[in-house]
This record gives sequence, structure tokens and C-alpha cells, in this order.
Amino acid sequence: MTVPVITIDGPSASGKGTVAALVADQLGFHYLDSGSLYRLVALLAIRRGIPMEDEAVLAEAARQLPVAFADGTVWLDGEDAGDAIRGEEVGMGASRVGALPAVRAALLERQRAFRQEPGLVTDGRDMGSVVFPAATLKVFLTASADERASRRYKQLIGKGESANLQKIKQDIVDRDARDAARAVAPLRQEPDATLLDTTEMTIDQAVDAVVQWFKERQASG
Ligand code: DC
Repeated sequence: MTVPVITIDGPSASGKGTVAALVADQLGFHYLDSGSLYRLVALLAIRRGIPMEDEAVLAEAARQLPVAFADGTVWLDGEDAGDAIRGEEVGMGASRVGALPAVRAALLERQRAFRQEPGLVTDGRDMGSVVFPAATLKVFLTASADERASRRYKQLIGKGESANLQKIKQDIVDRDARDAARAVAPLRQEPDATLLDTTEMTIDQAVDAVVQWFKERQASG
């Protein structure tokens, strides 16, 4: 039997990472946050002063990325990079390096290697369209830009950081536009992906919906 995969793609700050991790927990599956790989490449670029459009050098960095996922965080060459990759500058950089075909190609097999028993839940932009086209269940998870901005705002305020709601919304709209407009693996809902609009849903409701759909898929073979 093939190892089941659930892909959850969608725009930034939609909460897909939170939902994907909780679905993986409930099912006892592995979890891959593919955005963290693009974020790590961007972090290395910033630290090493590599221009965000130097495709060959960035692809090489992606191929050799010394990444490990353990203890609920992301390790870069032995350093806990969990906080460093979450900043807005790194997020925007990830969106830029993600537009480079050679970087995407370099990360492809690495992502596929996460498909292991008993199953995998993964989130990103092209998990259902490119990385796991034969996934058991494909979800396109979104929420309105206003709702996503407001969630991100509350998250930052909750962490004691300063935040500007208008600026957050503008960043979200800009990032969506870049991710959707790129030539390779653009952000979009695939015809075989199920839409989950969480604008008016709690996290638990979203998790329940995905787990339910997955069980239905498995039951129908
Ligand atoms: O999901 P995220 O916000 O952590 O992703 C950060 C950026 O990385 C996103 O704006 C585009 C890029 N990305 C991508 O191109 N493909 C993926 N599968 C995941 C992320």
C-alpha cells in the first residue's frame, strides 16, 4: 500500500501550518512545513550576502541545506533556527527564492523523502500540484486577507511585539501576488483540491474538517 499523504496548500498567514501540524498529531502522521525550507534558503542568503536573484548559488545552497526537524523546531547546521526564519524579511525573501526554478528543483526530492509510514501531512504552495501530485487528499486552505492580517496582528501583539495592521495586510497582499504570479508552481487552487475557507472557522473546526475528509477518502479506497 502506498503511504498516505495529505497536502494543505494556501496563501501566507492562512493558518495552514497550524492546521496541518494538528492534523498530523491527530492521525499520528509525520509533518513537513515546506515553507521552512524556502525560509532557510532565504535566511542563508541574507546571512551570506547572496543576492536573492542569484539562482545558481541559491540552488546550490538549497541542495546542501544542512536542515533537521527535531524537538518541534527547525535546525540549521545545529542551530535552532525556529525563531530566525519566522520574521517578515525572511518570509519575503522566501517568496523571492521560491520564484527561482532551480531552487524549487533542488528542494523537490528532499521534500518527497518525508513521505514515510504511517503517513505525511504537509503544507505549502505546491504540495498538491507538484511535489505530491498523487496525494490521498489535497486541501486548499484560505481565509480573507483581512482575516489573515488580523490573525497575524493578534499573534504578534500576543508575543509582545509591535505591529501595524495596515502594513501587515499590505505585506500579505504583496506576497500573495508574487506567489500567484510566478511562472513555476504558482499559488492556486488545483481542480482536484478541496477548498477550505477558514475565515469564519475556528482552528479545531478546520482540523476536524480535514480529518473527516481524509477518513472519507480512505474509506472509499
Ligand atoms: O508558508 P510560508 O509562509 O512559510 O512560506 C514562505 C514563502 O516560501 C512563501 O511566500 C513562498 C515560498 N514557498 C513556496 O514557494 N513553496 C512552498 N511549497 C512553500 C513556501
